[in-house]
Amino acid sequence: MSANILVLPGSLRLASHNRKLAAEATRMLALSDAVVTRLDLADYPLPLYDGDHEQDNGIPENAVLLAHRIAVQDGLLLVSPEYNHSIPAVLKNAIDWASRVRKVQGRPVQPFKGLVVGLASASPGRFGGARGLEALRLVMRALGAEVLTQQCSVADAANGFDENGRLSDDIARTSLESLVDKLLDTSRSLSRRG
Ligand SMILES: Cc1cc2nc3c(=O)[nH]c(=O)nc-3n(C[C@H](O)[C@H](O)[C@H](O)COP(=O)(O)O)c2cc1C
Repeated sequence: MSANILVLPGSLRLASHNRKLAAEATRMLALSDAVVTRLDLADYPLPLYDGDHEQDNGIPENAVLLAHRIAVQDGLLLVSPEYNHSIPAVLKNAIDWASRVRKVQGRPVQPFKGLVVGLASASPGRFGGARGLEALRLVMRALGAEVLTQQCSVADAANGFDENGRLSDDIARTSLESLVDKLLDTSRSLSRRG
């Protein structure tokens, strides 16, 4: 059975290194038999999470849409920058809202439970955003996801892509290919769709 895989960058920036890395991963995944979707958080604007907002207005439509998109996947590749060694607010806020969604179209959902999650990052710095992925790993585990041990971090990302947006460094490309292969294999074998 082919796997459903979602690629989600954690940056809104148009020239984002992480969006480029997500595009590279999407190209690699597209060579497989997986059904691949790439989302942009800019298409799902959300208020900052506030329990009063949720109580008074319910869960925003975009959070429900996002949760639904996630709930139908076998695998998720999060490609995120590191902000102060942690998760960018825009991504954490989207995850927090999506984690509040318990029903879609009247049916119970747990968007992250049992979802196979791969983590990748890019940074102009020398650690490639790897420390931020540790924070993301904790959050995904808390939500019941099956987080792959293997991850990919691209350091010196300002020089990491050629004019076509391709990873220029062989080691970085091999690392991403290997993560994508692992995500595909694990998503197929642990598919949530029976
Ligand atoms: C608030 C803030 C905090 C940052 N903290 C880190 C950091 O801890 N480690 C790091 O490598 N880069 C850090 N950066 C630099 C980002 O890695 C850099 O801006 C990167 O290009 C953001 O990802 P993007 O290109 O995908 O938008 C930080 C940037 C901002 C704006």
